[in-house]
Amino acid sequence: MPSTDVRARIKNLFPKIFEVPGTHDFAPGGGLYEKGDLYLLDGEVKRWAGATAPVTSPVCVSEKDGPAAPRLIGRAATLTAEEAARAMQAAVRAYDRGRGKWPQMKVAERIHCVEHFAELMEGTREEVVRLLMWEIGKTRKDSEKEFDRTVEYIRDTIEALKDVDRQAGRFSMHSGILAQIRRSPLGVTLCMGPYNYPLNETFTTLVPALIMGNTVICKLPRFGVLCSAPLLRCFASAFPAGVVNIVNGDGATVVTPAIASEHLAALAFIGSAKVANILKRQHPMPNRLRCILGLNAKNPGIVLPDADVGLAVEHCVTGALSYNGQRCTALKLLFVHRSRAEEFVAALAEAVDKLPFGLPWEEGVKITPLPEPNKSEYLAELLADAKKGGAKVCNKYGGLSNLTFFYPAVAYPVTPKMRMYHEEQFGPVIPVAVYDDVNEVLDYVTLAPFGQQASVFGNDPKTIGSVVDVLANEVSRVNINAQCQRGPDVYPFTGRKDSAEGTLSVSDALRCFSIRSMIAAPNSEANTELMQEILLRRTSNFINTDYIF
Ligand code: G3H
Repeated sequence: MPSTDVRARIKNLFPKIFEVPGTHDFAPGGGLYEKGDLYLLDGEVKRWAGATAPVTSPVCVSEKDGPAAPRLIGRAATLTAEEAARAMQAAVRAYDRGRGKWPQMKVAERIHCVEHFAELMEGTREEVVRLLMWEIGKTRKDSEKEFDRTVEYIRDTIEALKDVDRQAGRFSMHSGILAQIRRSPLGVTLCMGPYNYPLNETFTTLVPALIMGNTVICKLPRFGVLCSAPLLRCFASAFPAGVVNIVNGDGATVVTPAIASEHLAALAFIGSAKVANILKRQHPMPNRLRCILGLNAKNPGIVLPDADVGLAVEHCVTGALSYNGQRCTALKLLFVHRSRAEEFVAALAEAVDKLPFGLPWEEGVKITPLPEPNKSEYLAELLADAKKGGAKVCNKYGGLSNLTFFYPAVAYPVTPKMRMYHEEQFGPVIPVAVYDDVNEVLDYVTLAPFGQQASVFGNDPKTIGSVVDVLANEVSRVNINAQCQRGPDVYPFTGRKDSAEGTLSVSDALRCFSIRSMIAAPNSEANTELMQEILLRRTSNFINTDYIF
């Protein structure tokens, strides 16, 4: 493609409002999405009559001949601290110190509510997908994937809980003590998901928290607020009042009533380590707060001297640029052995320049506009800083931008003196550094504040074996000849240092949001008879042997 074509296409990327295809718009014919001021409190979907904040799309549009600007797509409720406190009170009431209907409910009944929710949720797919495209600029394909993956996660969670419950149905006997061990809820839980997966990552904590019998306050992310609106009625129909409460507004205002309350038992937060630290410090009794955190990461990709460069490039492109690099698991710094660096960078630059870019609904598109304000400017600053230090932008169009759109850039050679060597860019910039001895890379990993994942590309069993042995004690997943990623969701997803606290996978999440409780009784004739009577007369939800199939 001649360079002028790419330049012209970037310049003319954004459509006139009347050119937006109705089949991809959240409000065909223009206008605002009308459910942004809804929230869920104590089982009721309410319309907020107070202040609202404009929600703009990273997709810019222009009216007739005017300049393009981020399209205003709706207005979101900005709840007050008083309203957020009411949501917290509703969750506290519904939990009722473990005596509430929800935490006392049999596992089978809770599963039934979650199944019902999943069925209702499926009916919102197209509405949610269109909102994801508009609110966070995710491609239609990836938005659909996010939705479907979330529904699948809910169904897998149900199956995992059935397994857990089958195990818990058995009595055990050790040293004369008869016991039944189950997992009990923790209490009121605050869930806060991130903007890059507003649906999926929020639900990967919200759903296990709910199904284990906790009650929940969910604060919607910075961007990706409207896409939850279609689900509020599903929650209200599927769960008893107060079990799920969904609030939105200024973070400090709406989160404080929950986090500063002694009733808050668990915090599930996906975001920055800085905010996680602020939140944790606000809890009056930190030792009572269980934290499940997904935080910062700067996963390295390590290209060894004997790597298959074609394969490494393919995985580094998707690893670094899927959803424009806005993934916590993205490859954010590549280390290439000096002997292969020129070859690798040339192939990487060529592959990046072939990526289809455009608007989220366009067929096959991979690179789209970015939702964070001033993100193009920030990424341009990173490039300028790297250039000042002697790096070059190696792909032809790298760094070209138009408002919210930033063309991916390959920067090389990147050194520790440059900002992009250290900062989590969370966007379409690929820093490539050179190494001579793999220990230089391992030292980087050891000294970095992050410890989520790494990718290693190579084929020599001896080298891979020894590199893995070091990395395995520094990060939580080493991907061999593959990009970093979270899935499949049945595998453990976690990190060390400032990257995570707690482990999420379908089954680990059930553990995170519960604690083991047991009944124990000396194995006497009288106690055996007592247990049998409890089981026979079904006088307890905890002591029972009903299996769920
Ligand atoms: O942003 C962090 C996500 O958990 C990454 O998930 O690897 O499936 O994109 P992913």
